[in-house]
Amino acid sequence: MKVLNCPEEMRAWSDAQRGRHKTIGFVPTMGALHAGHLSLAEAAVRENDTAVASIFVNPTQFAPHEDFNRYPRPFEADMAKLEGVGVEAVYAPSPAGMYPEEYSTYVIVEQVSEGLCGGSRPHFFRGVATVVTKLFNAVKPHRAYFGQKDAQQCAVIKRMARDLDMGIEIVEMPIVREPDGLAMSSRNVYLTEEDRKRALCLSRSLFEAEARLRDGEHDADSIVRGVRDGMAGVEIDYVALVDAETMRPVREITGPILLAVAAQLPTARLIDNIKFDPKGTNA
Ligand code: PAF
Repeated sequence: MKVLNCPEEMRAWSDAQRGRHKTIGFVPTMGALHAGHLSLAEAAVRENDTAVASIFVNPTQFAPHEDFNRYPRPFEADMAKLEGVGVEAVYAPSPAGMYPEEYSTYVIVEQVSEGLCGGSRPHFFRGVATVVTKLFNAVKPHRAYFGQKDAQQCAVIKRMARDLDMGIEIVEMPIVREPDGLAMSSRNVYLTEEDRKRALCLSRSLFEAEARLRDGEHDADSIVRGVRDGMAGVEIDYVALVDAETMRPVREITGPILLAVAAQLPTARLIDNIKFDPKGTNA
């Protein structure tokens, strides 16, 4: 597996692939890879001629009080996992290479980034949109793979790719869960045994809501109230029922929606969601 450490090297590798008419699938990550990330990498390998993953813990998407310094960085183990699923190149730039002195250019995606996680982490999507743009410019992929676990991030990246004519297909892959329902996340390693048990109320409440939606419940307020009741044992950041594409609040459920939750546990902030389309098959 090739490791590229700067944009010039990465672009040269990608240009060579494109020169041979190969399609490039790309999985951007911050490392600390779990089965969710690997499902993205497997799809990138399967659906393209060659696959690249990036490992970069992006400082601009963390606020000063957040977990940038303690974010897990098991680089060697991550490399072995990527190699194991057939990824051919890893882009691992340095923070100084990505953000040199006097760095001053940021990408802001309006509207879709403003509620939900954008409300509680106002710095977050500016950092994500900026770093993903920079990663796209270096990797030059045909397709890029993101997990539905970060559903608002997917919506932001899709909007950005469309608005800025990036010509990259954004592929959203289903959430991968632990056997008991907890959505996989690199931050789950922070959870104490007690918090790990309490964390289950997120997925449990979402699954109960999903059953009510399937039974024909149309009233968004009633669904949100049910989820809030189910999460009474944790500090709720938000419970939001929004249009799946625009992230705008919905009152009456008539089209595809996202039901998303975030909670601050003593040891970690967790998010989870389900998508539902009253007219179709659901993710
Ligand atoms: O989802 C993530 O891990 C990050 O937000 C991403 C997309 C790699 C950007 O740093």
